[in-house]
Amino acid sequence: MPRGQAPAKVNLYLEVVGRRPDGYHDLRTLFQTVDWGDGVEVERTATSGVVCETQGAVLPSDDANLAVRAAREWLEAAQAPGGAHVRLEKRIPLGAGLGGGSSDAAAVLRLLQTTPGALPHDRLMQLAVSLGADVPFLIEGGTAVGTGRGDVIEPRPPAPRIAIVLMLAPFPTSTATVFGRVAERLRRAPEHGLEKALEALASGVPEKIRDAHHNDLAEASMRAYGEMLRFASTAEKRLGRPPCVTGSGSTLFDVPDVGEVDEVLARLQGLQGRRQVVWATAGSPS
Ligand code: C5P
Repeated sequence: MPRGQAPAKVNLYLEVVGRRPDGYHDLRTLFQTVDWGDGVEVERTATSGVVCETQGAVLPSDDANLAVRAAREWLEAAQAPGGAHVRLEKRIPLGAGLGGGSSDAAAVLRLLQTTPGALPHDRLMQLAVSLGADVPFLIEGGTAVGTGRGDVIEPRPPAPRIAIVLMLAPFPTSTATVFGRVAERLRRAPEHGLEKALEALASGVPEKIRDAHHNDLAEASMRAYGEMLRFASTAEKRLGRPPCVTGSGSTLFDVPDVGEVDEVLARLQGLQGRRQVVWATAGSPS
């Protein structure tokens, strides 16, 4: 049975360029997948329809679950007979800015592509785009720049070995709500911010990666959610430096020196939520 990983992603840099006529926002972002995520299995079945079993979280079993929608739309596009059985082992929290739902959907598409009737690559990417802005990146993963809605992907060379300490908040944030607050007042990103973030990542020097980190959604997330503001300020006090924010939150992260990981974890003891140490990975996760 096709089985694979649905890795979490972080945004090492995220700039909101402006609002689009379709209600979405144009972005310039640096995506990075990590070696931790959900487990996904997909089995083609003789009976029609998509059945989804989930462990580790309660998710809808209909199209409101992006993994179910991905399977149904793939079967339709491939004009495949029968249906599919999807099993999700959820580890990535929902509403965490780690791309969990999008990565599950991308993994379902990747796994179905290994079964008879694979779609041509451009049709697959079209389907990925229609599912969500982060899905196209998560088809391949690794290191990439995203423009447009974040769905126009330009792969970059694999990142050097860097450790990332995720600070998982005990509450979710809504991407749509956070983007709604950005529209009120666009913050100005640093000049050549994306280029600096790419250079910093290529250098593999954690301090440079932290310094080059910028996320226009961070402030919006903190304006929309008081608990996010409190979480980030407590994390900053404990860490002794500003934490990075992935996507629209609620996860914060730090990029420590490899030898500094244990010390960072010790400093973060007592912070609400839990911590997860992960490593940047190269693409093609399954
Ligand atoms: O694409 P996805 O379904 O993950 O996006 C969730 C919501 O976030 C969208 O409905 C939209 O309100 C907002 N969004 C945006 N601009 C983007 C990506 C997402 O405004 N580039």
